[in-house]
Order: sequence, then C-alpha cells, then structure tokens
Amino acid sequence: MSQFDLVIRNARCATASDIFMADIGIIDGRIHTLGQSIGPGRKEIDADGRWVLPGGVDSHVHVDQRQTGGGLTADTFTTGSIAAACGGTTTMIPFATQDRGQSLRWAIEEYHDRARGKTAIDYNFHLIIADPTAEALNEELPDIIAGGCTSLKFFTVYDDVMLRDRELLDAMAAARREGAMVMIHCENAAGVAWVTDRLLERGLHAPKYHPAARPAIMEQEAIYRMTAFAEVTGVPLMVVHVSSGDSIDIIAAARRRGVNVYAETCTQYIALDSTHLDRPGLEGAKALCSPPPRWRGNEEAIWQGIEDGFFDVFSSDHSPYRFDSTGKFPHGSDVPFSRMSSGVPGVETRSPILFSEGVIKGRIDINRFVALNSTNAAKIYGLYPRKGTIAVGSDADLCIWDDQYETVIDNDRLHHSVDYTPYQGMQIKGWPAVTLLRGELIAEYHDFRGKPGDGEFLAADKRPRSAAQTPTKTELAKLGVPDLV
Ligand code: URP
Ligand code: ZN
Ligand code: ZN
Repeated sequence: MSQFDLVIRNARCATASDIFMADIGIIDGRIHTLGQSIGPGRKEIDADGRWVLPGGVDSHVHVDQRQTGGGLTADTFTTGSIAAACGGTTTMIPFATQDRGQSLRWAIEEYHDRARGKTAIDYNFHLIIADPTAEALNEELPDIIAGGCTSLKFFTVYDDVMLRDRELLDAMAAARREGAMVMIHCENAAGVAWVTDRLLERGLHAPKYHPAARPAIMEQEAIYRMTAFAEVTGVPLMVVHVSSGDSIDIIAAARRRGVNVYAETCTQYIALDSTHLDRPGLEGAKALCSPPPRWRGNEEAIWQGIEDGFFDVFSSDHSPYRFDSTGKFPHGSDVPFSRMSSGVPGVETRSPILFSEGVIKGRIDINRFVALNSTNAAKIYGLYPRKGTIAVGSDADLCIWDDQYETVIDNDRLHHSVDYTPYQGMQIKGWPAVTLLRGELIAEYHDFRGKPGDGEFLAADKRPRSAAQTPTKTELAKLGVPDLV
C-alpha cells in the first residue's frame, strides 16, 4: 500500500532562506514529509536534482474587473488563472472593485460569483474602496475582513476611484482598526492632470508622452504623503508598482522612521523603459501603464532595490486589455495617450522573466527569487505558511524548474486573452517544467493540465493588532501621544 499520493524525488528545494535536497511526500494536497529515501507514492516524479520551488504567488492581478477609463479586462478568472498556471503561478490575488455608491458587501459578493467554480489556481481578493462612507468602513468592512479579504487598495489618482486625503486617513484608520493591510497607488492626481493638459495643448498626443505626463516626482510626492498618513494611523502600507529609483529613497526614509511600509515592483519596471512607448504608430501603447516605465537606465535602480532586498514583492500588475476598442482603445484609436487604457498583461511571464533576468543572469540568488516570487506576498497578505513555502503542512504548490530550457516570449504561446505581450521577443532561460497545485498537475512547460474550477478561495488572516502598532520611533510616539486608532 502506498503511503503517499505523490512523491517528488531528488528535489533541490529552495525556500526564501534555505536550500536542501529532499524527497517530498504529498498526502491530500499537502506536504506531509520532507526526507531522504522516503517511502513510495502512488505516483512519483523524479526531479533529478532540478530546482523545486514554491508555486508563484502573484499578488497584483486584474481579471474580470471593471476598469477605470472604460476598458474591459479580457481575461476571465478562467483564462487569467490558466495563463498564471502556465507561468508557474499557483496563487493569485486579483481585485474586487467597489464603485461609488455601491456597497462593499455587494462588490465582494460579485467577485466571488465571478471566480467561484471557474478558477484554475487558488485565489484571494484585494478590495478596492472607492467610496469610503461611514457605513462602508464601520459596518461592512469588519464582516468582509472576517470573511477572509484582509487587504484593501486605495488610489491617489484616477477620477472615478481616487480618495481625498481626509478620506484616505479615515480609510487607513479603519483598516488598521480592523486588522487589514492597505495597498496604495501613488501618483499626485493634480500634478499628472496639469502636466498632461500642457502636453495635449502642444499637440503631444503619442504614447511616448505618457511617461512625461506622469513624472516620477509625482509618484514620489504621493508616496511621501501616503507614508506620512501611514505613520499617524499606524496602518501597514504596501506601496504598489514602485517605478522609480528615487521612490526607493522615500520609502527607505519612512522605514527608518519606523513606518511599517512594504514595497512592490513589477515586471514592467525591469523589462520595459520609455523607449518601448516610443514606437511607430500605436505600438507604444503596448507598454502604456501607470506609473509608466521610466527613462532607460532607471531599471538599474529598480534592480538594485531587488538585489538589496528593498523590494518585498514582485508582481505582474496583469492588466489584460486587448489591443482594440474593447480594451486599450475604448474611445477609439485616434485619441491621445491619456484616453487609452493604462496597463499591460504579464501574469504568465512574471516568474520566468524574474528567474531568467534575476537568477540565471546572477543578479539575485535563488532564495531572493523565492522570497520575491512567492513567500513575501504570502506572508504580507495573510496566506503563509499555507502558501509561499516548502514545509511540512504547507499546500503542495510546487514548481520543478527547468533552468536549461531556452525560449523566446511569443504571444502565440501565452494563454491570456490578450492579443499582444509587451515582452514579445524577449529571450528567456528557465521555465517551470512541472507545476502542481495542492499536489495535482496543472501545467507542464507551456501546456495547461489542470481544470478551471479546481482553484479555491483562500481566506487570508487578519493582521494581528500588535504587528500594526504605531512604531515606537515615530514622532507621535516620541511625544508620548497614545495610539490614535
Ligand atoms: O496601469 C495600470 N497599472 N493599470 C492597472 C491598474 C492599477 O493602477 O494597478
Ligand atoms: Zn495601481
Ligand atoms: Zn494594478
């Protein structure tokens, strides 16, 4: 009689901190045993000394989401999660969006309905709050957090979702009180609008002006302001899609003041730059996202932040707009950059690009890769240790990586519902040869082997209040002011 459902033999395992050789014994979808020469499995896979890493956790994904600006995300929970699986991602955290005037409860229920029974990998939701009424924050939010959605996203820009400063403070305080994590999109709205208007007045309409319209200094201004708000409210803050080297300094300064602030960067800030928007015709729109990829050379500062361990999380910000009037061009294609949908797809290419550009090129070691690709997001968003690591008791979400496999990114081989990838033609070394979700095969190289509907909703843990206390180094603490939340 077999003891294990599945045994992976000769696995060169890496977690965020360790490397060890093991046979991995899996029972009921969980890692039961890590050891040498363990007993037989009903099924066995020989990893043959290749890297076996935790499945990817992509904590910034937009699927089946109504988008600011009018474009439709083409991926459903099915197609988006199939694409994720084929790039070695086994958990994703997309967004549920509250529209103004809508109840939070309704918004969450709507996204549960969209995802339930249709998703091929495990998932949770971040909740975008666009209308932080007293009822939403005081009456609805506690139930939503108790229901396992414990991270909220707020915007400082985009007319239809942005919050005013006072609203941001109240919403951050509510998040802190209820044990939630806040993600923040940082760009100064007035600054972006003013520069955009000046460019448009001068007839500078092409996608290549998009980076100029959203200057890095406007990102930095908003990051500074939001870290100040996090300091007085004591809420743990994730600055998402950090795009510029100087933003790193602002977040680092906040951390030195004792603010509990995390940082995310994304594939587009290491693999794209402003020259990708400066392409003939509308081609540049394929790299149009916000904050934008910056001037060539800025990506080195982002790499430095990745290498130094400054960044906690590496995400795709997968925004699957088709290159037509349903997606990128909801107002037609003969419009200025400011009327095109902002965002680039990348859920399938995120892990392979980080592995190839980071590990294979010697910029980061395998432990840093695992931390950025899986572990840190699982910890920060309350899914650890079920997700994001290789340990007894954890879900058997595992990738066997083929680090000798070479390919060129080609949209025809990707599984998203988008008709382009901004990473077309990029040379890649390394791809997950085998991807398992709770011990079941879901992908082999580029081929999907799973079943839409096998993905489960994961209830995320609340932030323990002790971990969100106003840090002792802050000004209010030094003045002896009690916790204000
Ligand atoms: O341009 C982007 N990043 N679009 C997606 C929405 C967001 O702000 O994350
Ligand atoms: Zn954003
Ligand atoms: Zn996003």
